[in-house]
Amino acid sequence: MQIDAFIRYLIAKRTVDDRALNRVVWSQLVDAVRAQQRRLLRPLRALEVGAGVGAMVERVLEWRLFDPDADGVEYTLLDGEPALLAVAQERLSEPPAWLRLAYAPINVFEYVEQRAKYPTAPRYDLLLAHAFLDLLDLSTALPLLRSLLTDDGLFYFTINFDGATLLEPTIDPAFDAAVEAAYHRTMDERIIDGRPSGDSRTGRHLFTQLPNAGFEIRSAGASDWVVYGVNGKYPAEEAHFLHAIVDTMHAALSNDPTLDPSRFEAWIAQRRAQIERGELVYIAHQLDFFGVVTSTPTPRRLASPGFRTT
Ligand SMILES: C[S@@+](CC[C@H](N)C(=O)[O-])C[C@H]1O[C@@H](n2cnc3c(N)ncnc32)[C@H](O)[C@@H]1O
Repeated sequence: MQIDAFIRYLIAKRTVDDRALNRVVWSQLVDAVRAQQRRLLRPLRALEVGAGVGAMVERVLEWRLFDPDADGVEYTLLDGEPALLAVAQERLSEPPAWLRLAYAPINVFEYVEQRAKYPTAPRYDLLLAHAFLDLLDLSTALPLLRSLLTDDGLFYFTINFDGATLLEPTIDPAFDAAVEAAYHRTMDERIIDGRPSGDSRTGRHLFTQLPNAGFEIRSAGASDWVVYGVNGKYPAEEAHFLHAIVDTMHAALSNDPTLDPSRFEAWIAQRRAQIERGELVYIAHQLDFFGVVTSTPTPRRLASPGFRTT
């Protein structure tokens, strides 16, 4: 996707994410963050990786994550794409007095490497990653992310894709299923900068991978995207969001050897027409996580040989 189209997509995604975020996980995060602010007696340091155009900062301000009467918050937005952070900076030009924003236009792996050279650099009290971890190889990325947090740091990892892309109304059950499987395969086989990058079942894998890397899960829950029209109309910019999803599937699967090309083109055209009529329903299964880090990572024990639950 071109950068301008990606910016528009991220802005359109805001209302979809607002509806999707798991409110139980969110409310436990709020309680823990506010308790941590009371303990710290200094500004809380937050880092958001893969921050895009700053939608999460806007949200945490509107939804009152932080206690404005505590000792302030220093919030760093990190993203590998400087053009996105430039948009974030414009959108967040007037933060409240208690909030200091900083921008780190850098690849997260380079950032971790640079900070490792300065062991006295302060670590973060809160790490956020929204619609981001499913782009990374978890076993490589999580220990690196863990190294950025203090020993009682909190994490909030949200909108982690987990293996279901549902589109209604059905066009052809077998072909719909073949498209879904092929689309998920592109996520499983994705290589970025020579590294394996994410998988289509990141959400469920986090239940094992997070504790293995020193992140103790305190709360988890579904944060499915559910996009639908009411009386043939989608709210806010969500028709655009749906077109971006269908365009992404089109780009990812145009040369897929398992799909007949002319049938796939017709399928894409039908999905676009469904959006125009306000008929398309799109559901993507995702999971949110909140927790605290443990001072030493606790690898999950393997089941003893011979033990079976079924
Ligand atoms: C799906 S977008 C989500 C953006 C934002 N969190 C949101 O939901 O609106 C993923 C973001 O991660 C950034 N990104 C991907 N890989 C990265 C990396 N290795 N280091 C830093 N940023 C990265 C992309 O530039 C993009 O802004």
